[in-house]
Amino acid sequence: MEIKLYKGRKYSFCSCGLSKTLPLCDNAHRLYNQKNKTNYKSIKIISTESTRINISSSTWKKIDN
Ligand code: FES
Repeated sequence: MEIKLYKGRKYSFCSCGLSKTLPLCDNAHRLYNQKNKTNYKSIKIISTESTRINISSSTWKKIDN
């Protein structure tokens, strides 16, 4: 999916696929990790410029294209 990033803004992307706000993390991974002894974490970045990027993950089954 393509998203716009804004210069200087911090982003936290979901790596577990459970977030209701994909592609952004909503901390759903915390409960999942507790119940399943997994170690999912969000992927944090700070954009150095305003730009558009294409991102995808095999765990984003609902929105991946
Ligand atoms: S909700 Fe998926 S990594 Fe946080």
